[in-house]
Amino acid sequence: MEVKLAECAGFCFGVKRAVDTVYEQLKTGKTIYTYGPIVHNGEVVQELTDKGVIVLQNEEELRSLEPKQEGAAAVIIRAHGVPERIYRLLEEKGLEVVDATCPFVKRIHNIVRKKIEEGYHIVIFGNPGHPEVEGIVGWCTEPATVLEQPNEAMEWTPPAGKNLCIVAQTTFNYNKFNNMVEIFENRGYNVNVVNTICSATEERQRSASELASQADVMIVIGGRHSSNTAKLYEICSEKCAHTYFIQTLDDLHLELPKAARLVGITAGASTPNKLIEEVQNYVRINF
Ligand code: F3S
Repeated sequence: MEVKLAECAGFCFGVKRAVDTVYEQLKTGKTIYTYGPIVHNGEVVQELTDKGVIVLQNEEELRSLEPKQEGAAAVIIRAHGVPERIYRLLEEKGLEVVDATCPFVKRIHNIVRKKIEEGYHIVIFGNPGHPEVEGIVGWCTEPATVLEQPNEAMEWTPPAGKNLCIVAQTTFNYNKFNNMVEIFENRGYNVNVVNTICSATEERQRSASELASQADVMIVIGGRHSSNTAKLYEICSEKCAHTYFIQTLDDLHLELPKAARLVGITAGASTPNKLIEEVQNYVRINF
């Protein structure tokens, strides 16, 4: 039986950069906070909290922080980014901001700002409850629309007299994005489409799909709250009936079909290499 890792799997550029930033900041001796867990991976976050990093779970926790002496503490903004008001709040609190917003997400913040100035209504294709999308909405100086499903795109009526600018959550499913854009075009809306899906996501989705279509069993590794991992699972399940979603090696209770010849492995953008290797080795040794 062969065990094969998808061509692109694990930490993406933005997440690696954010995690590295936390380790760098720890060396400064300041009190280090992250605004939200730095990645959707419990083990990575635990390792950092063991080293003294404090996770601020939400805006309320940030609000209740006592103002700090200048230079005593820093708050790291994670790769997903945050609404603009959070930067203001951090300033008011006298907290240094270390911005690890992924440049691809920052680009979306800049696009929506500019397009609103040009008179567009912003439509974000993404999950309205995801922090990245909340962050993008928080950079819109006018109300924006968030749509997640094709049926929502069918039912939605745009504000009268406005041209539309469409952007996407960086981890949005590429096919779904095209499908929803097509719905808008077919309805005759005047749209300016900026495909802001990150290439790391596309590559990960494409290589997962390729591998899943050959594999007898697929293992998708990632955090329970990681939306890009959930999407990988969705894509793999469509191609491979025996697809497993695991967070750590402990979740892996594999029941391999008798004729299984190829086990494919992929992992979300917040899954550290160490864990991917552990799973790979485990499957190689035990099956
Ligand atoms: Fe950035 Fe793309 Fe990762 S947007 S955080 S490199 S998935």
